[in-house]
Amino acid sequence: MEKVLVTGCAGFIGMHLCKSLLNDHYIVYGIDNLNDYYDPNLKNKRLLELKKHKNFQFQKLDIKEENNLKKVFNDFHPSKVVNLAAQAGVRHSLKNPSSYINSNIMGFMNILECCRNFKTEGLIYASSSSVYGKNKKVPFSVDDSVDKPISIYAVSKRANEQMAFSYNHLFGMKNTGLRFFTAYGPWGRPDMAMYIFAEKIMAGESIPVFNNGKMWRDFTYIDDIINGIRLSIDRNYDCEIFNLGNNSYTYLLDVVKIIEKLLDKKADIEFHGMQLGDIKKSYADIDRSKKMLGYKPCVDIESGLYNFINWYKDYNNLI
Ligand SMILES: NC(=O)c1ccc[n+]([C@@H]2O[C@H](COP(=O)([O-])OP(=O)(O)OC[C@H]3O[C@@H](n4cnc5c(N)ncnc54)[C@H](O)[C@@H]3O)[C@@H](O)[C@H]2O)c1
Repeated sequence: MEKVLVTGCAGFIGMHLCKSLLNDHYIVYGIDNLNDYYDPNLKNKRLLELKKHKNFQFQKLDIKEENNLKKVFNDFHPSKVVNLAAQAGVRHSLKNPSSYINSNIMGFMNILECCRNFKTEGLIYASSSSVYGKNKKVPFSVDDSVDKPISIYAVSKRANEQMAFSYNHLFGMKNTGLRFFTAYGPWGRPDMAMYIFAEKIMAGESIPVFNNGKMWRDFTYIDDIINGIRLSIDRNYDCEIFNLGNNSYTYLLDVVKIIEKLLDKKADIEFHGMQLGDIKKSYADIDRSKKMLGYKPCVDIESGLYNFINWYKDYNNLI
């Protein structure tokens, strides 16, 4: 059976990817530094889910630790690597930009070097819709220019795409970059809007809504994201970049309304101006992902939020 190394395996997307691979009998080696950017308990609980599978091995490891990373490649010999480990979040990159350079650029460099030296068959890595930065034209297409990033997070993700391109050119390393568009679902991240909304509504606290509510997002349900990653692992293209979005956009205040209904509790909305580094609208053109990967997102926002809120209630013992 194929051996896959997944970095950031205790993260939101990492956990769901490992689960999906393990259910299909892959042998999965997961690494994660379990940092405290958000509650490490959630990461440990995700790991407990993964440890139920006999084909899962975990090592607490930072991708910045070059020698320890080499040892993992040497011992495990993955045929494919999926790099999801990164300092995520646009807003945090205004406060702590160097953590993005360290994990997302220095760490990614180590991943590239290991894939090259251990002749890994393919690398799939997380990019982000934030590379579209100040672009006005929607939907965002992979053919659009992406030279106006408006956060260090976006810079780090664009840098990954360029580093991967050069490793393909120089060493023939096969790689696929995936620009995720606002992933959400069960086991989601507490620093992201939906989780924050649910948490604050339940606590009777006001929820912050930026740009006075004039925000639209291409929310992508986690199962659709995982499907796109799995298709990328299978296709193992030479050097490609794909958008993984839902090809639709939802008004942020409509998300609040659906969450209010699901929690049966009214939100107290606090309007704020636009946050630096943030974008008003994200919307993915997925024509190329459909054609080349066979990617087909199929979960609408109502069903996705229903699943998220059910998980949220269960996880927080609210039912
Ligand atoms: N969730 C989204 O909507 C979204 C959108 C665009 C891009 N992405 C990208 O997808 C990837 C996964 O995102 P996620 O939502 O699962 O985030 P996450 O924060 O839940 O997962 C990332 C995991 O990587 C680990 N990590 C961070 N730095 C590390 C390092 N140096 N060494 C080892 N482990 C490290 C963290 O502990 C965490 O468990 C990230 O690269 C992120 O930037 C996510």
